[in-house]
Amino acid sequence: MNTTAKMSLSFLVLGWCATSWAASLEYITSDQVITPALAQGAIIRNERGFEQDFLVLHCLVKQAQPRNLFEVGTCEGYGTLIMANACPSCSIISLDLPANSAPFFMDRWRIGFKCKAPFKQVFGNSTSYNYAQHFPIDAWFIDGAHDYEHVKHETLEAVRGGAKLIVYHDTDIDEVLQGVIDGLEGTNYKIYRVTDTRVSYAVK
Ligand SMILES: C[S@@+](CC[C@H](N)C(=O)[O-])C[C@H]1O[C@@H](n2cnc3c(N)ncnc32)[C@H](O)[C@@H]1O
Repeated sequence: MNTTAKMSLSFLVLGWCATSWAASLEYITSDQVITPALAQGAIIRNERGFEQDFLVLHCLVKQAQPRNLFEVGTCEGYGTLIMANACPSCSIISLDLPANSAPFFMDRWRIGFKCKAPFKQVFGNSTSYNYAQHFPIDAWFIDGAHDYEHVKHETLEAVRGGAKLIVYHDTDIDEVLQGVIDGLEGTNYKIYRVTDTRVSYAVK
């Protein structure tokens, strides 16, 4: 074999190795997730640009029926409410930064106030929070800081905690989607990017 042929073979092998270590990514649309049966009883998030995204979240959680779920980024608790409605038997823990802390300085009463269903509110920074105290965690909704480092770290923790379903918001932001992809590198999760929404999710 001449040198050029050897180099081509090496690149082929290297390329195959790189591909086999990346979690697979598939592009789908929301009609592949939202079915009439799953959508039934959903709480519709009546805010422009959120209806379809959170209906996808509802359908994914309703279908999975996880025993427990960890949300990164409670904010006012609208997503928490939607997930609690989709899975009433699920035990939900939701994390946000401590009240009145940088950079959002949210009043304590605002954090999670929209979710009237029972859930456990916890406070801390997603990059240093001790998730292991709650492991194993079946499902995650990752919707905190929308940047690469946070999303990758949260994804690594979700994997460590044995997640069967990880739902992400704001993956229309390139660095957020890259954080998902890199966080799941070397795993056997399959990633779905729901292209007519800002949602992606990973399952194994
Ligand atoms: C987009 S909002 C969450 C929206 C919420 N999931 C919903 O469905 O309405 C992002 C939230 O993440 C919180 N957050 C941002 N960075 C965080 C961090 N490092 N640790 C914990 N929470 C964070 C913010 O305080 C904010 O409330």
